Amino acid sequence: MVPYICMALKTKGTIFFCTACGHEDVSYLGKCAACGEWGTYKEAKFDKAGRAKGTKKASASQSRELFVRAETELVKLQDIKEDEITRLDTKSAEMNRVLGGGIVPGSLTLIGGEPGIGKSTILLQIANNFSQQKQKVIYVSAEESSKQLKLRANRLKVSGEEINVFAENNLNSIIDLIETKEPQLVIIDSIQAVYLENLDSIPGSPSQIRECTGHLMRLAKAFNIPIFIVGHINKDGDIAGPKILEHMVDTVLQFEGSQDSNIRFLRSIKNRFGSTNEISVFAMEHDGLHDITNPSEIFLDQKSDGVIVASKEGRRTILIELQAIALGSEYSNPRRVANGVGLARLHQILAILEKRAKVSLAKADIYLNVVGGLHIKEPAADLGIALAIYKSVAEKEIPADDFIAIGELGLAGEVRSVTDCQSRIKEAIKLGFNKIIAPEVNLKKIDMKELLQGTKAKVIGIKNIGQAINQLN
Ligand code: TYD
Ligand code: MG
Repeated sequence: MVPYICMALKTKGTIFFCTACGHEDVSYLGKCAACGEWGTYKEAKFDKAGRAKGTKKASASQSRELFVRAETELVKLQDIKEDEITRLDTKSAEMNRVLGGGIVPGSLTLIGGEPGIGKSTILLQIANNFSQQKQKVIYVSAEESSKQLKLRANRLKVSGEEINVFAENNLNSIIDLIETKEPQLVIIDSIQAVYLENLDSIPGSPSQIRECTGHLMRLAKAFNIPIFIVGHINKDGDIAGPKILEHMVDTVLQFEGSQDSNIRFLRSIKNRFGSTNEISVFAMEHDGLHDITNPSEIFLDQKSDGVIVASKEGRRTILIELQAIALGSEYSNPRRVANGVGLARLHQILAILEKRAKVSLAKADIYLNVVGGLHIKEPAADLGIALAIYKSVAEKEIPADDFIAIGELGLAGEVRSVTDCQSRIKEAIKLGFNKIIAPEVNLKKIDMKELLQGTKAKVIGIKNIGQAINQLN
């Protein structure tokens, strides 16, 4: 193991910090210099050992405020030996996928998501898989009592011989325990509920979250233990606490899913050990989260009269239905509702339809929905969105059985190329779609003969929105 030396983080004095964003200042300000919030500054005092005034003695971990690598020589890049990363298997193919192939020892992973989405469930399942491989786990249950955790474990049929539950909020005690037990996996549920007693702010405040995460990061690296931390999200959908939290950790995974569906998506927003925007799909059943390895089949289980698009989520292509309703509005400002697609994007596509395809929408209420609760961010679904709306306006009840639309829409109404068009077409053919419209520019670069060999499928190159609409007529 690399030797580490210790250094005190804070010297004696008073600092002020903003409770909204965690910004620190030497003097009090009515308005935060970083985030502009009013009246959010709080005072914190430190003595030399980095302890709040009035507390007795710093524990071993308190004085070990900052680990610094004693690796100060200059080394040539070519001389650095790479260690083979041996990843730890979570025994869930979907979880491994979103992590980039498994858990990297010494990594700090943040799992965010709304309350009740399944964060504690998935982590207990991972803990169970470690335990079954005789690997020691420490599950810090800072929010729920150990009895509540036990109820969940019963539901998941987790016996957990090697799972040690620690219902504690004080991070110093948690760190002391980890150092003595040296487990193979640590779970902190949640980062908002743990605190450092030498900080003045309350648990869950930005400075607490930031400092606690910093300590856990150094601990993970020093002992080469993977640590998962749970983070709640605020009303805007961001992980609560300062944005800096996301910069500090190695991997950020975000749970998504709608209340009325049991499908859950786990998306990697950041990953130092794998590609970002990778997505995993699970179903929440009565006995926990189960992998869904063939999401397109699940989503297309019940097709209606929307438009199917091939969305690329990380390395995986997911076929999904978009539904739209357009109806005469009774309001002076018609309603525009988008579920699973950004509202700004919907407005842009409506503008393109109106201006470039002469579809009159000014007096229509428009509702758009992505079936299954997935949030589609990539532009390759633009054409599908436009066609789903057009179908509703023109009252064309074409079943969504056979047709797939791929393409980004430019403001001039042109259908622009998309990334990895070939694998989108492949997935569509695999699932039995026979009419695929795709950007003409993409098709020029694809060996169509080979792609369509042995199938009845037809792939049609499209240049603009007008040509796409003609394919529906
Ligand atoms: P939980 O993992 O506690 O969510 P989080 O930690 O993100 O707040 O999940 C709680 C929800 O999941 C709750 O509504 C019940 C449901 N659930 C199941 O449907 N099946 C199960 O096996 C479990 C454990 C929970
Ligand atoms: Mg929980």
